[in-house]
Amino acid sequence: MNILVTGGAGYIGTHTSLALLRQGMDIVVVDNFSNSHPEALQRVKSLAGRDFPFYEGDVCDEALLDRIFSEHAIDCVIHFAGLKAVGESVAQPLRYYENNLISTLRLLSAMAQHKVKRIIFSSSATVYRSDSPMPVDETAPLGCLNPYGWTKFMCEQILRDAAVADKELSAVMLRYFNPIGADASGQIGEDPDGIPNNLVPFVSQTALGIHKHVNVFGDNYKTPDGTGVRDYIHVSDLAEGHVAAVKYAMEHTGSEAINLGTGTGYSVLDIISTFEKANRVKVPYVIADRRPGDADAVYSNPEKARRLLHWEARKTLKDMCRDTWNWQKNNPNGYE
Ligand code: NAD
Ligand code: WQD
Repeated sequence: MNILVTGGAGYIGTHTSLALLRQGMDIVVVDNFSNSHPEALQRVKSLAGRDFPFYEGDVCDEALLDRIFSEHAIDCVIHFAGLKAVGESVAQPLRYYENNLISTLRLLSAMAQHKVKRIIFSSSATVYRSDSPMPVDETAPLGCLNPYGWTKFMCEQILRDAAVADKELSAVMLRYFNPIGADASGQIGEDPDGIPNNLVPFVSQTALGIHKHVNVFGDNYKTPDGTGVRDYIHVSDLAEGHVAAVKYAMEHTGSEAINLGTGTGYSVLDIISTFEKANRVKVPYVIADRRPGDADAVYSNPEKARRLLHWEARKTLKDMCRDTWNWQKNNPNGYE
């Protein structure tokens, strides 16, 4: 089986590429390195002990896509390529709509032209309305709070419509909760550009001494300890979820949105204390103001993934904290 992985040099793309290669599948990767580093792909090759074709370029580039699909017989596409910073999307909405929507549209057109009928799309739990009852399942009403979220919402709708029009198309839209952690080797991991927006990279950089303390955004949420609760999922579990989705797409047509989460919520303080205990490090923190737009608690009902994909997350929060630290301390400057 030959899988085209767009955005394969990124955080989730590298882990999924490795999982696909380890399963004996072949991959072709395209990435423009707008938020990643060539070294990440070298590490995937050396961990897998296998080479694969790579195209440096933009998924919005029709000619490039035509070349890739002409040069390789692709069975399934996994579309990770996209911009993902929520705050940046508020400041630069047009850039987000352009990159995330046009890349998806061009990819679908090229797939149609080359008769490629299966696509796995990186969606997000951010498509759920923030007032949804938890745990949230795939039938919950959708609605977003920022342009990034709307790009995921719109791409899902585009995929649903495409699958109605082409009865041979299979579109699996995976709604990720909060991916954290790194491959157990410590060779690949999350490498944020500048100061991290997300909690766990900030925690691990604080443990390393890069930041004085973590700002805990609010301690008066409606949660057991007052801090925000999220469904953190190990990126290697998430990668396995994609392998399962590829297998599902090979055997089914139509569109499905599927949550990829653990089903368990942990608070910001749970993360800090587990990180400290698992790694025997100190993570100083102070309670700060709430971050605008943050929900009290977001966690998944993971039943549909179990039922359709025969997949469930296995790794614990301790595994996630240990593997994050293993990557961070081995690579204090990321891939640089
Ligand atoms: P990432 O930024 O690490 O990876 C995305 C990759 O896509 C990068 O290597 C980037 O260079 C590339 N890219 C972006 N636009 C491109 C384009 N037009 N052409 C070619 N390459 C392009 O992000 P990630 O965390 O690996 O996320 C992967 C996908 O999953 C994204 O679509 C993201 O929105 C989605 N997602 C991520 C999270 C998360 O918390 N990490 C949660 C839910 C959904
Ligand atoms: C987690 C918790 C914060 C940083 C985001 C996107 C979402 C998805 C995943 C792509 C919250 C708190 C955070 C800090 C803190 N991405 N926090 N101090 O907001 O759940 O989700 O990433 O689809 O779309 O919105 O993740 O890691 O930013 O925050 O206290 O320095 O940690 O308030 O409760 P979030 P996060």
